[in-house]
Amino acid sequence: MFDIDQFIADCRNALAADRSQKHVREVVARAVSDPASVLKSLGEPKCAGLNTLHRSSDLTVLNIVWAPMMTVIPHNHAMWAIIGIYTGREDNIFWRRLPGSPGKVEAAGAKALCERDAEPLGHNIIHSVTNPIPRLTGAIHVYGGDFFNPTHRSEWDPETLLEGPFNPERAIRQFEEANAALANRQKR
Ligand SMILES: [Fe+2]
Repeated sequence: MFDIDQFIADCRNALAADRSQKHVREVVARAVSDPASVLKSLGEPKCAGLNTLHRSSDLTVLNIVWAPMMTVIPHNHAMWAIIGIYTGREDNIFWRRLPGSPGKVEAAGAKALCERDAEPLGHNIIHSVTNPIPRLTGAIHVYGGDFFNPTHRSEWDPETLLEGPFNPERAIRQFEEANAALANRQKR
């Protein structure tokens, strides 16, 4: 049975054994290998949200729920991360800086993540995320630092693909807007 306190303790132990994400990824992979157990413990997602399960200077654990068809613009984390899907899907586009065009990125690859996947993201990764299905997607996101207090964090304008500072208020607003749209859809 998935237990959030045990999961965080396991992540902390994994991190103590090795500061890289390797062992933590194994902890996340083990958790999402039994998605029904994670769902039972965290509860069936009801709305989009960015829910903090653990926050410290070297480790953050979030339960992120994406609204149907929700897209998050290209951004970096400036720390490693692991995404473990316990329900639904996530499509990730990976971006790289375009040589000769300061601040601009180009698409470099993509990865479709499914239930039970535990995907490691490197320290310098730039990605955008879409939930491509018409229902909520739930994922445990583990970060190798304080997700809410990063340095050198950027996001890229989805139209111009030019770099700007990460705007946490905009990120939170995006979840609120997604929930408002979801509520409207459910009314129809
Ligand atoms: Fe991200």
